[in-house]
Amino acid sequence: MTQSNFMNRIIVGDTLRVLREIPSEIIDMGVTSPPYNKGENKKGWLVKNVKYKDSIDKLPEDEYQENQIVVLNELFRMTKPGGSFFYNHKLRWERGFMLHPMDWLRRTNWTLRQEIIWDRLIAANIRGWRFWQVEERIYWLYKPVDKHYIGQELKPKHALLTSIWRFHPEQNNPHPAPFPLALPARAIYSIMDDNKGIIIDPYCGSGTTLVAAKLLGHDYIGIEISKEYADFAEARIVNCENERKEALSEMVKHTVRRTFSERKENGEYTGRFRIQKHSQEKPISLKLFEPKAPYMKQTAKKASANRKAAPASD
Ligand SMILES: C[S@@+](CC[C@H](N)C(=O)[O-])C[C@H]1O[C@@H](n2cnc3c(N)ncnc32)[C@H](O)[C@@H]1O
Repeated sequence: MTQSNFMNRIIVGDTLRVLREIPSEIIDMGVTSPPYNKGENKKGWLVKNVKYKDSIDKLPEDEYQENQIVVLNELFRMTKPGGSFFYNHKLRWERGFMLHPMDWLRRTNWTLRQEIIWDRLIAANIRGWRFWQVEERIYWLYKPVDKHYIGQELKPKHALLTSIWRFHPEQNNPHPAPFPLALPARAIYSIMDDNKGIIIDPYCGSGTTLVAAKLLGHDYIGIEISKEYADFAEARIVNCENERKEALSEMVKHTVRRTFSERKENGEYTGRFRIQKHSQEKPISLKLFEPKAPYMKQTAKKASANRKAAPASD
């Protein structure tokens, strides 16, 4: 496939088949949420059943995991050294046994850079076999440059967003399992910052990652098996300006008043409980953590009286 066949396009087809036709080391980063292999005949009494138009989300678990490993390794091949991939998945249970994304992620070529909790801020009064599962996971996968596994530092304005991402599930989207625009916007902005590049979503569904990529000024590649979802995503990309406000409301969260080094230079609070001499900010008072002296005295007095009153034990 030549570059013009897939750049800024959504290719309709099976992810693995399409990925195999894309050249190596051209992608800067990716974001995706694959089908979770949730078994379509399972129906929870509170959770809506996800059913896709042109694929069945029900494979033998071994086969599913092997497929994800091959897909992730193809994505690794296509990604430039130093590039990243954000993989959204969740913990599942099969007849009481936990299926954890780490079960297959550790078997791919990627370096696992971070496990992020996506707190979906959902709540309900229910009974259940486990505590109400309100979270999904997002794995930051990294392709090292040579053997430098640690990679480049994030800018402080991105890193301050912590490893718990709090977004409500998307409500205004007819696709059965979309993620909110803020999720790919946060991932892309944090990694790419002001640089421009090529972003891929190999299971692009309603095109949320591609809309975020376009709004942030990047090129994109989408792959989706359902023509209906791909058509919807194309229309969404054409009208992406309607969603700029939502992307901006994520981007304004990436702000830091003063970086760690600036605070350090000014002798300001840097996270250690110490008294600062030249601080422009009010130092945290260590007195807050000291027990109050009169209380200590009284307690000591009472304790000694009690000891005297108590009968001797043998
Ligand atoms: C969790 S959804 C992705 C939703 C997307 N993140 C969004 O915000 O709309 C997974 C998507 O993968 C697609 N899909 C399932 N099997 C596929 C396959 N073998 N190849 C390509 N796409 C597939 C489904 O049609 C579905 O749209």
